[in-house]
Amino acid sequence: MSTLLQLEGVSTHYGDFRALYGIDLTLTEGETLAVIGANGAGKSTLLKTIAGLMPATDGAIWYDGEDIAVLPTYRRVEAGIALTPEGRKIFPSLTIEENLLVGAYRKRPGPWDLKRIYETFPLVADRRARYGAHLSGGEQQAAAIARALMSNPRLLLLDEVSLGLAPVVVKEIYAAMPAITAQGTTVLVVEQDLSQALSVADRVQCLLEGRTVLEGRADEFSRDQMAAAYFGLDREAS
Ligand SMILES: Nc1ncnc2c1ncn2[C@@H]1O[C@H](COP(=O)(O)OP(=O)(O)OP(=O)(O)O)[C@@H](O)[C@H]1O
Ligand SMILES: [Mg+2]
Repeated sequence: MSTLLQLEGVSTHYGDFRALYGIDLTLTEGETLAVIGANGAGKSTLLKTIAGLMPATDGAIWYDGEDIAVLPTYRRVEAGIALTPEGRKIFPSLTIEENLLVGAYRKRPGPWDLKRIYETFPLVADRRARYGAHLSGGEQQAAAIARALMSNPRLLLLDEVSLGLAPVVVKEIYAAMPAITAQGTTVLVVEQDLSQALSVADRVQCLLEGRTVLEGRADEFSRDQMAAAYFGLDREAS
């Protein structure tokens, strides 16, 4: 399979504060990568940098053979990169169906439309006429993923899908993942919940304070190795 996304030495700053230090990352078309790490590790910054919401201050972002580091966000959406942001960011004064249609504004040709979304996400179908403000956290999360899919992405970036949701709701949302990956969509999922991340991922990359501290196949590491990388225990011991 071909490489869809490749980051080479990507750094990102908030003013003088450096949140990412020379990140390398590769995503093969069709695979699912879990990016894990503790609070403040730089996971959301990484997704925002790929989506174009934060500029990379150093390095290259190759997508489908082109360096997209200077492209504005809407051009990246047109190229097939869609983000489900941390905190869901559902428009509260729009209905769920209107939220979905916003996601289709720069859409590419592809399988996802309202009909398929409603088949795949019963949570969203049931609430289509409700205003965003009136949804539960789980319904908002499902709607936010559905909104990203409406652009027919090749690369779907999911930030903290399960945060703050009851386990039964998380399960319901993750039940849609096979339908998404079956379309050949490449997925980068950020989770603080290790088990959830590893249950869907082919590979895992762990960040600690803006740097990659572990990277490999999801079944390659023991829980202890991952936990040590996650909390930086190796580094403290040395
Ligand atoms: N808007 C901002 N302005 C200044 N610093 C920021 C901003 N957003 C994030 N940071 C800082 O950048 C670093 C990385 O933050 P980021 O949100 O990417 O982490 P994260 O891994 O997504 O954490 P969390 O698990 O809490 O979502 C943190 O030190 C954070 O305080
Ligand atoms: Mg975050």
